[in-house]
Amino acid sequence: MSSMAANHRRGAGGVSPAIILWCLANAVMMISIAVAMPPQNPLQCNATGCTLYNSYGVWGDRKVCRSPRAVFPTTEEELTAAVADANRKKEKIKVVTRFSHSIPKLGCPTNGVDTVFISTERYNSTIEVDVANRAVTADAGVGLRALIDRVEGEGLSLVASPYWEGVTVAGVVSTGAHGSSWWGKGGAVHEHVIGISLVVPATAAEGYAKVVSLTAEDPLFNAAKVSLGLLGVISKVTLSLEPAFKRSITFNFTNDSGLENEYIEHAKKHEFGDLQWYPSKNIAVYRYDDRVPLNTPGDGVNDFIGFQSNLVLLTKTIRATEKAFEKRRDFKGKCMSATTFMAAKTLMANGLKNNGVLFTGYPVVGRQGKMQTSGSCLYTSPSDSLSSCAWDPRINGLFFYETTAVIPAANFGDFIRDVKKLRDAVKPESFCGADLYNGFLIRYVKASAGYLAPPVDSVVVDINYYRADDAVTPRLSQDIWEEVEQLAFFKHGARPHWGKNRDVAFVGVQGKYPGFAKFVAAKKELDPDNVFSGEWLDEVVFGKGGSGVKGDGCALEGLCVCSEDRHCSPSNGYFCRPGVVYKDARVCTYLGTNSIS
Ligand SMILES: Cc1cc2nc3c(=O)[nH]c(=O)nc-3n(C[C@H](O)[C@H](O)[C@H](O)COP(=O)(O)OP(=O)(O)OC[C@H]3O[C@@H](n4cnc5c(N)ncnc54)[C@H](O)[C@@H]3O)c2cc1C
Ligand SMILES: *[C@@H]1O[C@H](CO)[C@@H](O)[C@H](O)[C@H]1NC(C)=O
Ligand SMILES: *[C@@H]1O[C@H](CO)[C@@H](O)[C@H](O)[C@H]1NC(C)=O
Ligand SMILES: *[C@@H]1O[C@H](CO)[C@@H](O)[C@H](O)[C@H]1NC(C)=O
Ligand SMILES: *[C@@H]1O[C@H](CO)[C@@H](O)[C@H](O)[C@H]1NC(C)=O
Repeated sequence: MSSMAANHRRGAGGVSPAIILWCLANAVMMISIAVAMPPQNPLQCNATGCTLYNSYGVWGDRKVCRSPRAVFPTTEEELTAAVADANRKKEKIKVVTRFSHSIPKLGCPTNGVDTVFISTERYNSTIEVDVANRAVTADAGVGLRALIDRVEGEGLSLVASPYWEGVTVAGVVSTGAHGSSWWGKGGAVHEHVIGISLVVPATAAEGYAKVVSLTAEDPLFNAAKVSLGLLGVISKVTLSLEPAFKRSITFNFTNDSGLENEYIEHAKKHEFGDLQWYPSKNIAVYRYDDRVPLNTPGDGVNDFIGFQSNLVLLTKTIRATEKAFEKRRDFKGKCMSATTFMAAKTLMANGLKNNGVLFTGYPVVGRQGKMQTSGSCLYTSPSDSLSSCAWDPRINGLFFYETTAVIPAANFGDFIRDVKKLRDAVKPESFCGADLYNGFLIRYVKASAGYLAPPVDSVVVDINYYRADDAVTPRLSQDIWEEVEQLAFFKHGARPHWGKNRDVAFVGVQGKYPGFAKFVAAKKELDPDNVFSGEWLDEVVFGKGGSGVKGDGCALEGLCVCSEDRHCSPSNGYFCRPGVVYKDARVCTYLGTNSIS
């Protein structure tokens, strides 16, 4: 307890005026929570067709994602009829959800190919809990929060989930989404799947579509665990559960020395442990997160600060400030912002609330269903518009990249050592751009038999950093983020999180999964005519087609690795150069003199 108090004092000592402002804004925000807007529907249809957006409103290549029509089945029968109809008409199918929170263009059709969007938005009515066998079966479109609340109501808990609850059951397993754990079945949700049923194309004699139900014994099951929407439409998912439990969480804001050695021990000691690393500040935040019995006192909630509603005005101000720092090449300004946000996160324990309202001290103990995932900015009234999720594309708010590398556990220490070397070789301020988001968020997933899942125990690192409003503007520390990205994916063998990342993260992805050929064979068996296909998947995942031409500025947005200066932005002073620590990296380095720090 005393070290916690010390942490608080340290946190509060920093930039008091800014923090007071921030806390004031938050107090106002709490009042305004009842008057905010939920995210827009990602699928917007009118008389001329439908446009699919992701949660940030912009795809990696900034192009639109369209199909002439969408259907909204509500039952398995309607879903089967929709697949049959498309198959009979020789249309392609893309499955979309009411959240569309994957960042790459997984859900986008091939341009000019007749495709129908099948939305699971209205296919969300059934959640069947089998208490005796500790399992739940849900319709594909059921939201994670609805599923968790239902399961907890029956005295059971879902052990693994992503930290963000604005996702569907089928969407989560399709991209290998995860929380954090090396214990039991591990942190990835698909490892808790014990049954999955898919609607797949069939012959005319079979009625053009059929339901295939897979369980663990089935040879196709390992293909279906993580399937990127390529095998068919997932109709129902069955997840294994455990008796309800609570969690006890303490964040230790400490220095980052030894991080590269301690990450393994940390995961072994704490069932749901994770780490946040703020390289510019030499700070690591160890999350001590353990299962405790249901009768442990405490009614805490994890309302992660980054997923709370923010005043639109405050969000716009933060974005405008960040843009101004970028424009002035003001590293120090970014670092000050990072300090302010970190102090606030320290004070507010990243959003943990002991009694559901306020943070009053560690540990925070609460039910698994209240601690495992959050997303309070989702639940607000559509009629008002004072606050929203910070990245809501309608408000010109936060706009950033999300690089998520799934690094084999054995390589992760060396990855951290390389990043530390890079930090020490350049100015540590170069890293402030990530530290004003969540730094490096580090989580754990276990080896999986899934063909498109990591075959070895892995450590997942998430990094958010500034993205410019337009595609041609480079960012501060452009070279740093590219070198970190290439260190992870090209030097240390990272696999990309399928639901995040820029295109460069997917280079050579076929060779990174020993089961890749088996996945392709399973697809041939279930979907021989490639009804479930899309341009991005064909080009990026299967390495087919594509022009192969690298456009001017392509490295800025992670659409390529630069090999010529024009892939960067010579007119802005950015040229293609080797990395600082990783000499094989090719990054867009600023060689101008227009620098104030
Ligand atoms: C703010 C934010 C926070 C996030 N936090 C985390 C996190 O903590 N951990 C993590 O791992 N990920 C996280 N993610 C990523 C997110 O969890 C995944 O991308 C997830 O897959 C999104 O689910 P969705 O329901 O929105 O699916 P979508 O993005 O709509 O779909 C994903 C893919 O699955 C396919 N698909 C969806 N439903 C079906 C179906 N019924 N049948 C067949 N194919 C289907 C789609 O075609 C598409 O290819 C986060 C993303 C955001 C934006
Ligand atoms: C339909 O939506 C598209 C894409 O948003 C837009 O370009 C088009 O003008 C709209 N058409 C009509 C008739 O509203
Ligand atoms: C299904 O979705 C609708 C709105 O999209 C929601 O109101 C309803 O509660 C959801 N049902 C379940 C069981 O989650
Ligand atoms: C926090 O971590 C440091 C090591 O980095 C350790 O010495 C200290 O005891 C930890 N504090 C708590 C409250 O566990
Ligand atoms: C970091 O913390 C450890 C353990 O608490 C301590 O031994 C070490 O001296 C600290 N390093 C720095 C640079 O403060």
